[in-house]
Amino acid sequence: MTVTVVPSQQVLNPQLEIAGGRRLSGEVRVSGAKNSALVLMAASLLTEDTLRLRNVPPLTDIAGMGEILASLGVGVRRGSDSIEMDGSGLNQSAPPYELVNSLRASFFCIGPLLAKLGIARVPLPGGCQIGTRPVVEHVKGLKALGAQVTIEHGVVSAVVPGRGHRLKGGRIHLDCPSVGATETLMMAAALADGETVIENAALEPEVVDLAGLLIAMGARVRGAGTPTIRIVGVERLHGADYAVIPDRIEAGTLLLAAAITRSTLTVGPVITDHLGAVLTKLEEVGCRLDIDGTCVTISADQIRAVDLRTQPFPGFPTDLQAPFMSLLATAQGTSVITEHIFENRLQHVGELQRMGAAIRMQGNTAFIEGVHRLSGAPVKGSDLRASAAMVLAGLAADGITTVQGLEYLDRGYADLEGKLNAVGATIRRVG
Ligand code: UD1
Repeated sequence: MTVTVVPSQQVLNPQLEIAGGRRLSGEVRVSGAKNSALVLMAASLLTEDTLRLRNVPPLTDIAGMGEILASLGVGVRRGSDSIEMDGSGLNQSAPPYELVNSLRASFFCIGPLLAKLGIARVPLPGGCQIGTRPVVEHVKGLKALGAQVTIEHGVVSAVVPGRGHRLKGGRIHLDCPSVGATETLMMAAALADGETVIENAALEPEVVDLAGLLIAMGARVRGAGTPTIRIVGVERLHGADYAVIPDRIEAGTLLLAAAITRSTLTVGPVITDHLGAVLTKLEEVGCRLDIDGTCVTISADQIRAVDLRTQPFPGFPTDLQAPFMSLLATAQGTSVITEHIFENRLQHVGELQRMGAAIRMQGNTAFIEGVHRLSGAPVKGSDLRASAAMVLAGLAADGITTVQGLEYLDRGYADLEGKLNAVGATIRRVG
């Protein structure tokens, strides 16, 4: 198979220029879920056969994960919306620091590497803009499966002792329902000897998607989507052809684009069960929702204040906290948002204030007094979802908003400006 690595996009100082105040109308298509696709790609390390994923979004993070897999010997070939990975050449157990550092989710490779090769050396991903992002639960779980793990000089080294270097099934109780730890341990347990039970597992749809893929590859997984996941290890996993779920966070962002511009828009495909808490909040603020199969049509007119706190699934997702705050900055009345998942995920507040939002902070709680109109300004997104929040604010603001920090936006949104322009927005990429 030809190995083609998709290079990460490199642009100098691009920004979006948004002419605010346009109404949106029409239909927007939701891409495949970034967070699912990244982890499903890591599962290619578990098999010598070819794994083909469909509905893979064209994002720089996906390209980055492709580079990491290629550095380990996996043949990676990108199609227009698919990606094929051939794990037969896997011959490295240590992805390079530069690649892991720029893509946190790549740390999750440690589970499948350890399961397949019995050895893995993966640099600690470090903190990021939204918080410290520890990996204690991943490490604790791998130890429970029989790995010896040491952390020295910023690198996690793990080895499975004994003949055959095969992990052993075990009982793991996560202290917090970490999405990444649950996924890492599911992949590790899939090839382990015996049964693994993960208690207090994350319930997120991406975990269920990973279970779906692993089962398609021949794994024995039960209980994904509940707090207790049981995995009976098998000796070998085979290839599969699998479609990634739609991106619930992108879908939520697009629904919010309609709400903040007081428009009517149809967004799909979505799995509405994945968006329960978000749809409920949209109704609470006064949006009308019409659900037809996998499409949601949203109509917004007056928006009223609401309180929300981020929580693990099925609670309100932390990844939509910043975009929802942009909407509430334009609501009637005072809203209260509390960020419970990440300690540093309210950096967008300062930027929204520069656009005229009336927000007061107390610890991890923001008190948002809705204003009649935001005003366009130069702003910078401090992380992926904060950048999306700036784009939404720009759609509703008077005049021109320029949004910098597109290196974050492009990691997680496939052509956001193209999709919004197609339904009536005026956004130009410059620089
Ligand atoms: C994933 C998502 C991210 C989302 C987050 C929470 C991917 C690639 N990223 O990140 O977009 O915002 O879920 O829904 O899927 N924690 C610990 N110890 C650990 C691990 C985590 O205390 O060992 C804490 C974290 O500090 C955080 C919380 O658990 O407060 C949630 O983190 P986690 O679920 O692990 O997030 P990620 O998997 O990194």
